[in-house]
Amino acid sequence: MADIRNIVILTGAGVSAESGIDTFRDAGGLWEKHRVEDVATPEGFARNPDMVLGFYDMRRAAIQTKQPNAAHEALARLDELWGGELLIVTQNVDDLHERAGARRVLHMHGTHLNAWCTACDVRSPWTGPLIDRPPCPACGTNALRPDVVWFGEMPYEMERIYASIRRADLFVSIGTSGAVYPAAGFVRDARELGVRTLELNLERSQGSHWFHESRQGPATQLVPTWVEETLTGLGG
Ligand code: APR
Repeated sequence: MADIRNIVILTGAGVSAESGIDTFRDAGGLWEKHRVEDVATPEGFARNPDMVLGFYDMRRAAIQTKQPNAAHEALARLDELWGGELLIVTQNVDDLHERAGARRVLHMHGTHLNAWCTACDVRSPWTGPLIDRPPCPACGTNALRPDVVWFGEMPYEMERIYASIRRADLFVSIGTSGAVYPAAGFVRDARELGVRTLELNLERSQGSHWFHESRQGPATQLVPTWVEETLTGLGG
């Protein structure tokens, strides 16, 4: 552990599951209730904008009623106390990492709490609905969409993520199924760079074989234990 200085942590829907936010591919998950093609693609938005705006309005309102859990809180504590480099790369569009106090957070799939104007390209903080086509705070045009990366669109800040993985000593993946690229490929990139890799997940993910170590269990149990190990220098 003494040689671990720079850490990259990838989180997915599983880290927010115990806060009452649905995951995507688990039993009863979002993609069982909604067709990805309809609500998470630019083509779906063009076909039926009301359905898409309604879907994200519902989710945006829901996450504002949820609270960070012990996994978010443990990662925020690590962020506060860790003297080396640390980056929490989240695929999640909720703000629970930040509400728990984490600062070194990068939202690679966007965030529910922004609206993105397709006319002037400005992203504005947003908590209310978009379905009534409110005007953009920057240019006044009624061309706002959710600031969420849809399938077929490029995730955000990929160069910054790869640069952090190149400098990392440890790559940790928490609460993600490893079903969606490019995030699902980070562990292989890290491994090929000689970075130590650890998975914390309810069950083995699709990329589990790429990890040096894989621990199974709920994030609210696994993450505080791993953070304690890491802060006390006992981690693997
Ligand atoms: N603790 C730890 N892991 C959990 C928990 C929990 N309480 N509950 C579920 N998990 C794990 C599941 O076992 C699963 O491997 O979290 C993972 C959730 O997987 P997905 O639902 O596929 O979510 P995610 O991997 O974040 O999806 C990636 O896909 O739909 C797109 O853009 C969306 O960011 C999302 C991306």
